[in-house]
Amino acid sequence: MKLNSLASAPIQKGTRVLVRIDSDIDFVRGKIAPESAYRLDCAVPTLKFLLKNKAVVTVMGHRGRPAGKKVAALSLAPAQKYLEGKLKMKLSFLPNTRFDAREEKNDIGYARELAEDQDIFINDSFATAHRKHASTHAITRVLPSYAGLQFVKEVEELEAIRDASPQPLSLIIGGSKIETKIPLINQFTKYAQHIFIVGAAANAFFAARGMKIGSSVVLPASIRAAKKLLLQKNIIIPVDVIVQSGKKSRAVALPDESNQKRFEICSGREMILDIGPASLVCMSEMLASARGIIWNGPPGKFEQQPFHLGTVRVARMLAHAGRSGATVVAGGGETVTGILQSKMSNGYTHISTGGGAMLEFLSGARMPVIEALLAKTE
Ligand code: 3PG
Repeated sequence: MKLNSLASAPIQKGTRVLVRIDSDIDFVRGKIAPESAYRLDCAVPTLKFLLKNKAVVTVMGHRGRPAGKKVAALSLAPAQKYLEGKLKMKLSFLPNTRFDAREEKNDIGYARELAEDQDIFINDSFATAHRKHASTHAITRVLPSYAGLQFVKEVEELEAIRDASPQPLSLIIGGSKIETKIPLINQFTKYAQHIFIVGAAANAFFAARGMKIGSSVVLPASIRAAKKLLLQKNIIIPVDVIVQSGKKSRAVALPDESNQKRFEICSGREMILDIGPASLVCMSEMLASARGIIWNGPPGKFEQQPFHLGTVRVARMLAHAGRSGATVVAGGGETVTGILQSKMSNGYTHISTGGGAMLEFLSGARMPVIEALLAKTE
């Protein structure tokens, strides 16, 4: 796949360049921990390239899902400050693109507004490559468009892994954005040996089996989709979990499949916040034969101790598998933060900025944002 890359863009002194970066990261009280800054760090080579070539740069990106409303907590100001610190100069930033409802509608009028007074568009946001939005898709109809250095790197590395198609393949899918991942999980059930569903994603599967999950995060639409997926024999859900009850935590072993209906994992205000130790042992045994492993979504609320333990152990298990010769790919904002916080990145074949985008790319799906950048090479 040959993308029209930034390296071949006609950039001279004074060329006005609009750059879409991945800025969807977590800040704690306006501060960015180094382990959370991976996506911003990955934007630095493109920004440096443009600044070195004396382009006039405007940066845009999104954070969270503000649904077209201006949400102060989702401002890009901390990202701007972080990148200005890294590049040691002032940068011009547009507001969070998702503050405008037209962004997610792929509105050409909004794309034209973003493109006003610009000469060239650079897409360096691989993590949104699965979203057909105005700042990633419609804009390619308005400005000459090129893929940024990180975008090109992601596509090259993930394409090599996808084409090598390591088998047997296992997936670990967690995190909270399960509703958009269910069609992808469905796709992977056709050729993956095991698909482990962990973290908040597993809650939909527990509920689909009729178990009571207290106040644990789950959406009704995810439960309906999980019901269908449970019929696939390669879907594996945890056999035990860690539950938070007030200030305490406890492990809960789940009964076997035939006795799960109405089993109470936790009650009322309690929440499932991590994977249990027996599930980690099962996972490690099942992964022993895998030659390819894809991980997206943490198995627990790792930012809150002691619920970080499942994530640390999965990060370590996969680093070990990678060092023993398996192809190991992990991606997504929280997943990468979890790996970096655990200091376990050594051993991974590729760590992607994309979560849903990485899964979609590896599943072989058609991605209109990538096609829009490819079309520009013709
Ligand atoms: C991500 O975090 O994977 C990207 O920023 C895309 O976020 P989205 O699922 O809200 O579109």
